[in-house]
Amino acid sequence: MTYQPVDGKPFTVTMGLRALDLAKWIEIDENYQSEIVLKQKLLQQNHAQVFATTPSGFEGSAETLDLLKDHLMQYSPDHFDLTKFAHADQHPLEIASRNVQEDLVIMSKTDGQWVMTAASVCFPSRWDLTEKINKNLHEIHAPVPEYEERIGMATDTMFDKFTPEWPMWRINWTILDSSELHLPMNANQLNRNTSHLTPADFAKNTFLRIERQTLRALPKSKDVLFTIKTYVTSLAQVDAKDQHFRANLAKTLMSVSDETIDYKGWQPLWQNLQYWLDA
Ligand code: HEM
Repeated sequence: MTYQPVDGKPFTVTMGLRALDLAKWIEIDENYQSEIVLKQKLLQQNHAQVFATTPSGFEGSAETLDLLKDHLMQYSPDHFDLTKFAHADQHPLEIASRNVQEDLVIMSKTDGQWVMTAASVCFPSRWDLTEKINKNLHEIHAPVPEYEERIGMATDTMFDKFTPEWPMWRINWTILDSSELHLPMNANQLNRNTSHLTPADFAKNTFLRIERQTLRALPKSKDVLFTIKTYVTSLAQVDAKDQHFRANLAKTLMSVSDETIDYKGWQPLWQNLQYWLDA
C-alpha cells in the first residue's frame, strides 16, 4: 500500500498540506491501463457527469496540458509519446485527463474567491460535479462538517500562496461499502444486508478509500491545478499489510462526531465496523 493515513490520532478536519517533490507530482502505478480505459469509457458515455468547464477555465486547462506533457516526457518517457496528446478536437483538460490516472480540477481566482472553472472528475467519492462547477471553495465544501469553522479561511489563504515550483499534497480518506472508483452522488448504495456478514467477510467487502491530492500554481494563468488520485483497498488487505491499522482505526473512530458519521455515510456500516474492530 502506498499510503495509509489512519494513524490513531483523534479525527479532525485539517489542511494537512505537505511539500511535494515535483518529480513525484503525477503517479503511474500497476492500475494505469485499467483506470485509463475506465476514464475513456466514462468520458465517452457519461461526458456531462464527469467533465465540466467554463470559459474562464480554458487558459489554465491549456497550460495544464502543456505542463503535463513536459512533465510526463521528462519523468516517464517510456510510457508516453507526444502523439498521445495530439487531439485538436478535444478540450485541453480532457486530453490531459485521458492520459493520467488523476482527476484534474482548475481553480481560478474570481472576484476574490477561488472558483472551480474546469474539471475532469471521473472518480468522485459520492459528490456531483455538475453541482460544484463554478462554485467557490466555501460553497464546494458546504456539506463538510467543520470545514468552514476550522480551515475555510486558511485554505483560501493557502491558495493565494501556492507556487509552480513547490507543489503541495494532502490526503483525504474514508471508508465505503463499494470498491467502484466512479461513485457519483446517485451511485447505487450496495444495500447489502450487512447484519449477516461475519467480521471477516465484512472486512473483505468494505474499503479504505484514499485520495492523494496535489495542488500547484500555474505560472501563466495564475490558476491552481488540483489533482486527485484515488486508491481503494479492502479493510482486510490493509489489515494484512499493517498490523497497527485496526487499533489505529478504532482509536481514531472513537473521536468522530455524529455529524461526521452522517456526512461520511458511515451509519449503515457502523455496527459491523465495530464488531470487526473488536474481533
Ligand atoms: C487545501 C485544499 C483543500 C482542503 C484542505 C480540502 C478539504 C476537504 C475535506 C476535509 C473534505 C472532507 C472529506 C471527507 O471527510 O471525506 C473535502 C471534501 C471535498 N472537497 Fe476538498 N479540500 C481542498 C481542496 C479542494 C478543491 C480544490 C476542490 C475542488 C474540486 C475540493 C473538492 C472537494 C469536494 C467536492 C469534496 C466533497 C464535498 C461533498 O461531500 O459534497 N477540495 N475537502
